[in-house]
Amino acid sequence: MKEGQWAMIAGSADGLGESFTTLLAAQGFNLVLIDRQPEALKKTAEKVEKKYRVKTLLSCIDLAGEDAWKICMGLIQETGCRMLVYCAAMSEVKPFLEYDSGNLERFIDVNNRTTILLVHAFAGYLRDTKKPGKILLMSSLAGLLSPVYVTPYAASKAFLISLARSLYYEFKPFDIGISVCCSGIINTPKFLESKPGGPVSMADPDKVAGYAIRMCGKKAVCIHGWTNRLNYFILSVMLPASLSSYFVNRTMRSIYPNLSR
Ligand SMILES: NC(=O)c1ccc[n+]([C@@H]2O[C@H](COP(=O)([O-])OP(=O)(O)OC[C@H]3O[C@@H](n4cnc5c(N)ncnc54)[C@H](OP(=O)(O)O)[C@@H]3O)[C@@H](O)[C@H]2O)c1
Repeated sequence: MKEGQWAMIAGSADGLGESFTTLLAAQGFNLVLIDRQPEALKKTAEKVEKKYRVKTLLSCIDLAGEDAWKICMGLIQETGCRMLVYCAAMSEVKPFLEYDSGNLERFIDVNNRTTILLVHAFAGYLRDTKKPGKILLMSSLAGLLSPVYVTPYAASKAFLISLARSLYYEFKPFDIGISVCCSGIINTPKFLESKPGGPVSMADPDKVAGYAIRMCGKKAVCIHGWTNRLNYFILSVMLPASLSSYFVNRTMRSIYPNLSR
């Protein structure tokens, strides 16, 4: 992908999305920025326009909306965008029975429904226009390891891993690279909002975004950080599933001691 081309970032104003915005602008991409907070979106756009002299097109929408994917596709067609980063996510930390049905629907809508519809429409557009392109989905180690207290989040992130794993091979003949990035905890306002009570090591959002951009299209599933890759290998290959879940859940309980019963 070359400088001056357009990339779309869904969930671009804050946290990891802001890192994607800054790093792609630094590479010379013009950006279609999607987020639901108008002020933060404007501020992020102004910052990259000024610093990197790129163009931005903003759309303030809730990605849970039924037509969110259609609005995104309209902007993709308007700009000829050839890279999609789906970063936004619904996330909450609490015991499963404390969610209500509206909460659970939002997980499906933001993390899965809009994502799969947008990936389908965007990849179809790339194929039909005979242009190469890239799709980057943001998942989490939670999607690979299924810890307690983030059950809807982890299940929705596992969906993205499965999606990218199969589409990676389906899309190859069309020159469309798709990857899903799994990260451990990242130092973002959203994570800090979850009020971790115990010790926790957090990755730098710029490093995670930089890694994900570099790996996009090279591998279906990319795990950020060599300690995460090593831990995942030990937990998924070397240990029996029950022991692996015991360690994963013990870590979760140490990060959120107030949720442990
Ligand atoms: N933080 C971590 O520890 C961590 C670890 C592993 C993976 N991840 C993944 O990395 C991605 C980004 O994480 P983050 O902590 O930066 O989260 P985030 O703040 O929720 O997401 C980044 C941006 O997306 C926006 N967004 C969220 N929901 C939206 C919606 N329904 N419609 C439009 N925009 C929306 C956010 O706006 P608001 O501020 O208004 O929500 C924010 O500006 C997520 O996919 C997350 O699952 C995060």
